[in-house]
Amino acid sequence: MSVTATKNYLPPASLTSASLEEIAIRNAQADAGIQQVPLSFFEKSIHFACAHLFYMFYPSYEQFYYEKRVEAFAKAGKELPPYVNSWVGEGVLFIHRFIASPASIGSIFPSSSYLVEAMTSKISDEVLENTPPRRYLDVGAGTGSFTQGIIAKMRPQDHLDVVEFDPNLCKLLQRRFRHLPNVRIHLISIFDFHPKERYDVVVTGLPLNNFASEDVKRVLKQYADLTRPGGSFCYFEYAGLPKIAQFVRCLFGCKKEAENFARIEEAKRNLQEQFNPDIELVYLNMTPARAIHFKVS
Ligand SMILES: C[S@@+](CC[C@H](N)C(=O)[O-])C[C@H]1O[C@@H](n2cnc3c(N)ncnc32)[C@H](O)[C@@H]1O
Repeated sequence: MSVTATKNYLPPASLTSASLEEIAIRNAQADAGIQQVPLSFFEKSIHFACAHLFYMFYPSYEQFYYEKRVEAFAKAGKELPPYVNSWVGEGVLFIHRFIASPASIGSIFPSSSYLVEAMTSKISDEVLENTPPRRYLDVGAGTGSFTQGIIAKMRPQDHLDVVEFDPNLCKLLQRRFRHLPNVRIHLISIFDFHPKERYDVVVTGLPLNNFASEDVKRVLKQYADLTRPGGSFCYFEYAGLPKIAQFVRCLFGCKKEAENFARIEEAKRNLQEQFNPDIELVYLNMTPARAIHFKVS
């Protein structure tokens, strides 16, 4: 019997799981200020790739690193600081999810800081002064652009619920915000989300134009039902793009899709007539968008 020599396909030693764990531990300890031996450039690159760029492929590394961070900061007697994400990693994940599910994600890039500002403008500083605890809801949070904007305006006594139904995006949201005691992330579809209490401000990023018109009617009603009297809810839509898409549908005879879109437009129009919303046009976004704010009486 002859034995054929096989090639060694194992990854290099520095990439085996034991070494990855060691890198995670040393980096966590360095963050907490208790690690004397710094990571080499190569190790830092590995850590950056696993923890920031490709964490959707290495969830166990991310979880392990998080646990070691908690341990290291507890050992150092320090409070765990927020986990700073890489915007490159967020962008990569967003595009990755868009490619996997374009209709439900609805855009290639996360919203810009200008759109975030417009969408969270009803959470103003004067409102926050001397008012009782407030409840916020972020629906279809994606990588957390609006979530971050809401958190920046929250006080410790306020509460934020975040709803996102894509498990990969939810994992990222957990990474970004799980250290905050007053933020709760729900891996659930908005259609199955039935909280006991209503919210002062509901901020939503769902790609309504990609939904069936019946679901749009349902979700618009749900936004209003989720908002307490005196509170407000808002959604955004891309300016111009939906009309161009509708033109293309008509041009290519996509009758069913064109009718669905016309019913969506009608549902939105009815809502706007009912609530007479504030509309803010934001040019600096990919692509320009309208933030539409509804006050519930
Ligand atoms: C256009 S992205 C907006 C992301 C983020 N808010 C932003 O503006 O950058 C829409 C998000 O809604 C989520 N989504 C779509 N349908 C949903 C549903 N039924 N329930 C919860 N989230 C949903 C998608 O997974 C996606 O993350």
